[in-house]
Amino acid sequence: YRLVLLGPPGVGKGTQAQLLCNRIGTCHLSTGDLFRACQNIEEPSTAMAAALEAMRRGELVSDELVMSMLRERASCLRCGGGFLLDGIPRTLAQAESLEATLHDLAVDLDAVICYALPLERVVDRLGGRRTCVSCKSVYHVSANPPKDEDTCDHCDEDLMQRDDDHPDAIRVRMQLYTQATQPLMDYYAEQGKLVAVDADGGPEDILERTLDALRDHL
Ligand code: AP5
Ligand code: ZN
Repeated sequence: YRLVLLGPPGVGKGTQAQLLCNRIGTCHLSTGDLFRACQNIEEPSTAMAAALEAMRRGELVSDELVMSMLRERASCLRCGGGFLLDGIPRTLAQAESLEATLHDLAVDLDAVICYALPLERVVDRLGGRRTCVSCKSVYHVSANPPKDEDTCDHCDEDLMQRDDDHPDAIRVRMQLYTQATQPLMDYYAEQGKLVAVDADGGPEDILERTLDALRDHL
């Protein structure tokens, strides 16, 4: 499969991406994860420093930087096993640029999965998210708590709250999602690629729902 995962911040794209990759074995690319991995660089480039600052405020990173990060990973896009793009594209400019990049690589998107959930539920998922400082496993204080409070099940390290999960940044992220990213639903619907999936329920149920919807679509 060559897929894009679309949906508001906190809807569970990262969680589903992990489950989908375990099941169908594609290459997973998350621009959010790529940028977060740069947070510990001691002397980031000017462009990267600006990107990390924008992220903390909940704003979008520039289209140029996002697309150049993606193009650097063209081997992933060309991979015969398929790919899963999580958090990209997020603007119409990124969608058009992605289309051109894929065209150059002679590959095509199979589907764009769009997860939907009412806004207040999404905000609750974000507010309760905890991430392992070491292996980056994602938990939720009530929906998916670690066995031992504040400690990762896998590596015994501490859990932390992402620094863009505070109320101010969450508000900005939601607003930008509505303004910049939601229009992509029409863009992909016109191409016949949009697959809407209800993101209510447990992660495993949503995984099965996603795979069913994909089978119906393709
Ligand atoms: P990114 O990392 O992509 O963040 P996001 O889109 O805001 O999405 P999240 O990671 O917050 O949520 P998610 O949908 O993956 O949910 P998760 O599975 O973690 O981007 C971060 C920032 O990077 C952006 O704000 C921007 O600055 C920058 N950026 C990235 N890409 C960019 C681009 N293309 N252009 C410009 N800027 C870009 O789940 C959330 C919580 O819910 C967890 O606690 C989880 O355990 C829980 N949960 C998940 N599923 C369920 C379920 N079914 N039931 C109950 N709880 C659940
Ligand atoms: Zn861990």
